[in-house]
Amino acid sequence: MAKAISIINNKGGTGKTTTALNMGAALKKLGYKVLLIDLDSQCNLTNSLQIDDIQGHIGEVLLNKKAFSESIKECEGLSILPASSNLLDYEYQINNEPGREFLLKEILGQYNSFDFILMDCPPSMGTLAINSLVAADYYLVPMQAENYAFIGLDRILQTAEKVKLRMNTKLKLGGILFVKYRPRTKFGQAVVSNIAQNSILKDKLFNSYIRQDIALMEAPAFGQSIFEYAPNSRGSFDYLNAAKEFISNYGEKK
Ligand SMILES: Nc1ncnc2c1ncn2[C@@H]1O[C@H](COP(=O)(O)OP(=O)(O)OP(=O)(O)O)[C@@H](O)[C@H]1O
Ligand SMILES: [Mg+2]
Repeated sequence: MAKAISIINNKGGTGKTTTALNMGAALKKLGYKVLLIDLDSQCNLTNSLQIDDIQGHIGEVLLNKKAFSESIKECEGLSILPASSNLLDYEYQINNEPGREFLLKEILGQYNSFDFILMDCPPSMGTLAINSLVAADYYLVPMQAENYAFIGLDRILQTAEKVKLRMNTKLKLGGILFVKYRPRTKFGQAVVSNIAQNSILKDKLFNSYIRQDIALMEAPAFGQSIFEYAPNSRGSFDYLNAAKEFISNYGEKK
């Protein structure tokens, strides 16, 4: 059965899309079959794989206007269910559907050909983000070591707790992943050690972290993951380590 992972943080620019793409590519490198789902009308994940011929997208699939299997595109050995820029119009319609939070779970439940499904959430806690938490086994929170990051984290944990209680009892926090991390700065170290001392969160912090690396920013412009674009970069090393850590905590080894 596929393990579904919601990559979520309602704060913008915290590395959700970069993590979806490169954790996905790392899991593929480790021998797993991976589906990426773009739930963001910014379409960054879709664009980062340079998919422009969008015949079916997540909005249409959720409203049963297009079949899931016909809407999946293949790129770099990854499968992706793309987003479209008018996804917010679809979200508006989805909000009027009975059981609107369960649409994605219902669709994913019908297919079982992937090992991992990684869902890239928009920077909000709207219906699409909640759909991803309802469909997920785990949620993973990428965050930057910066002021105010914790305030957002608290909000995500509270929302996820409500989803778990009311709609998805199997939902677990798969990990908090520091991205764009600069291990040599005192500030970065202080933020991480602060969270590492928090009794609830300390076991949920990835030991791996993703260092700041310009190659991670450049790769999407070439429609590539970090493993294709810069296989010897820090970003490539760090995302592979994070994926291995995730597998050793929660996955079935290949
Ligand atoms: N480790 C890193 N090193 C350097 N740049 C990074 C790193 N991770 C992400 N970035 C860059 O930071 C920016 C924001 O990252 P990303 O788009 O992944 O965040 P996001 O959480 O998906 O944003 P949004 O909330 O808008 O969807 C992008 O320009 C990305 O290339
Ligand atoms: Mg994004």
